[in-house]
Order: sequence, then structure tokens, then C-alpha cells
Amino acid sequence: MEVLVVGGGGREHAICHSLKKNNKITKLYCIPGNGGISDIAECVPEIKATDLDKILQFVKEHADIAMTVVAPDDPLALGLVDLLEENGFRAFGPTKAAAQIEASKVFSKNLMKKYGIPTADYEVFSSSDDALKYLEKAAYPTVIKADGLALGKGVYICQNKKEATSAVEEIMLDQKFGTSGNQIVIEEFLKGYEVSVLAFCDGKTILPMETSQDHKRALDDDKGLNTGGMGAFSPSQRFGEAEMKKAYNTIFLPTMNALNAEGITFKGVIYFGLMVSNKGVKVLEYNARFGDPETQAVLMRLESDLYDIFNMVIDQKLSQVKLKWSDKQSICVVIASGGYPESYQKGYEISFGDIDGDCVVFHAGTKKADGKYYTNGGRVLGVTCMGNTLAEAREKAYKNVEKISFENMHYRKDIGVK
Ligand code: AMP
Ligand code: GLY
Repeated sequence: MEVLVVGGGGREHAICHSLKKNNKITKLYCIPGNGGISDIAECVPEIKATDLDKILQFVKEHADIAMTVVAPDDPLALGLVDLLEENGFRAFGPTKAAAQIEASKVFSKNLMKKYGIPTADYEVFSSSDDALKYLEKAAYPTVIKADGLALGKGVYICQNKKEATSAVEEIMLDQKFGTSGNQIVIEEFLKGYEVSVLAFCDGKTILPMETSQDHKRALDDDKGLNTGGMGAFSPSQRFGEAEMKKAYNTIFLPTMNALNAEGITFKGVIYFGLMVSNKGVKVLEYNARFGDPETQAVLMRLESDLYDIFNMVIDQKLSQVKLKWSDKQSICVVIASGGYPESYQKGYEISFGDIDGDCVVFHAGTKKADGKYYTNGGRVLGVTCMGNTLAEAREKAYKNVEKISFENMHYRKDIGVK
């Protein structure tokens, strides 16, 4: 039996790594994949993750593919799962309608408001004039978000009217994110600490995984620009069982129920980006997929079979699943190309040194040629280790990070410190 994974980052490497543990799977394919994934799966770099027709064609031509796992946001938002299912193929991931919880902030904010799911207060604007007028009376700091997908760059935290005005202009007038900025959300700035919860959902049952914490800014002490994520650890040190139980009742289950009430069956992973403040837990954002790099840290601790879980989600039998986790603490430190998330170089040879056997170096932006690995993206690697404590996992991860080198490499030194 064969499985196809769509995507080519660290998250997809971690998914492939977990699937590989199932010995019923004889072969993995990955479209497009990357240098590290090519060591455990047959990669197809010629096909883009967003080329729906070519992916369908590939699945048609490979009769032993029993399931396609769609990991990234854009093919989900374009409806790859719908297309595969319409053609009679099994796919793991939400449909286009369900993926709207991530692909449209207006959709997700309105859903939360309608069903009383706690989130920051907000207003929606379709005209820049109205938005600019609103900024006169807004409270600062304020948060401005492009409606659609924007590679994690569509959120602006604005300290004053001047910053907010340029955010509105960039998104709506300069169309920095294209049509993703046709509408914007302006919302209340929330204070507190953040935690990510990924949850399997089959439309009948929602099953949270263990918590994790991302580090979004490029530089130490949460300075610098927002990135896709510079590191993560699992579980969160602060968000315990009592908080999870409460969030299940006020956020996780109500979200699945709200989607069902709208006629949308969500099958896949819902990522809850949460802000915990003294006023309670609120949703910052939903993603309709595994997070990156949270997945690397979380799946490292998963002891249940990922392929079986995916099947139970597709068949809506998730109520029968109980997830098994390692008690250890995991951490993933991302190594990026200097300059990321702005401009950076590609094509530097990577030297790995002698990595400890119990650490996994997940590849993100790499490619392999003639047995050597080269940088090929902004986030390059995610060094992922476990320990009995967070401090132990951290120490091990950084010890291994220091064995790796390529020109202009950059990583945060404070993952898991705060
Ligand atoms: P998002 O893509 O919506 O998760 O936003 C990216 C990051 O911006 C989040 O991880 C938060 O750090 C921050 N953020 C988003 N919305 C808010 C908010 N309402 N208040 C404070 N910070 C926010
Ligand atoms: N690490 C945040 C995300 O995957 O969106």
C-alpha cells in the first residue's frame, strides 16, 4: 500500500517520518517534497502542491496509492481534497468549504461571533475609506488582518494611527497580498500568552492533540519580523489539563458544532491559535491543517499510528481513537537562511556533523543533488529532540544545531526559554 503526501516543508517531513513507522505502507510519495524527504519518500519536484490537475493525474497513474494527505493551506483552500474525493480517491484534509476557517478571516470571525466562540472583538471592512475613517476612533494598539491567505504575513500589530494607516494602505490600496486584501479585519489587541492546539476532527468527534508553543518572530526575545515559525516545543508549560478541558468545552467542540450547523463537515486537523489572558482563553486564528513547526514537535511525541488515525478521520470513526503520547518534552529549533523572512540566498551546501541518534533533523527548504544537501528556502531545517524536561530537550537540540553549518545560517537561541 502506498501513500502520497502533498507539501514540501518541515511539517511534511515530520508527517512522512511518522507514516513511515507503519509497516503496511510500502512506499511514500511526496509532491513536491524536499531534500530530506527524498531519503524516505519518492519526491516529485516537478509538480507544485497547488497544481491540482497534475496531482489528480499522478494519483490516477499510481493505482497503489491508498490515501493522499494534503498538508499545506493553499491546495486545501483550492479544493484538492474535493477534487480527489469527486474522483473516488481517499484524501486526508478538509474540503474547500471547510478550509475557509483558515482561508478567510472574515468567515472565521463571523462564525465565532455567530456561535459565541470567544475571540477578539472586531470589525470587517471592504472599503479602505471606511477602514481609514474607523482608525480615527480605534483603540491602540490595534490588529489589522488581510482576509485571505498571506503566507503568515497578513497580520499587522499597529501601535498608533500612523502604523494602522500604512497597514490599511499596504493591504487594500497597494494590494500587497493581492485579492487576499479585498477585505480586512480590524480587531482588538489581546494580551497574554499564546498556545497552539492541533486537533483531529472528523465532523462528529474532535480530538485535541497535546499542546505546543510556536515562536513566530525572527529574532531572540520575540523581536524582528513575523515568520512562519522559528521553533516550537510540546507540551506547553503553562496550559495544563484544566485549561484544555475548558477550551474543549468553550472553543474546540463549539467550533466543530458551528461548522456542522453551517452545513460544513470538517475532516482533518484544526489548528487553534489561542491567546490566554486573565479574561479567559480566546481564539486568535484557526488553521485548517497541521502547523509548521508545531507538527515537528508534536508528532515527535505521538506514539499512536498516524496512518490509522488518518483513516479513522476519513471514515468518521475518530470516537474510537485514543491518542498515546510520550511523557517526554520535545522541542524543534528551526534553522533559517540569513535574511528570512525577507530576502535570502539559496543553494548553499549544508554540513550536518554527527547528529545524535535520538534527534531528528526535519528538512524544510532543502534539496539534494549528488548525495549532498543544499539550502533551498527560508526555513531550512528543524532540529527536533526530546528530553525528560524542557531544559534537557533544549540542551540536546542546541548541541545538535551547533553541529550543522551552512553559509549565513540563522537560528533563534531562545526557543523554549520563556
Ligand atoms: P495570526 O496569523 O492570526 O495567528 O496572527 C499572527 C500573530 O499575530 C499571532 O500569533 C499573535 O502573536 C499576533 N496576533 C494576532 N491577532 C492578535 C490579537 N488580536 N491580539 C494580539 N496579538 C495578535
Ligand atoms: N506555525 C504557525 C502556522 O503553521 O501557521
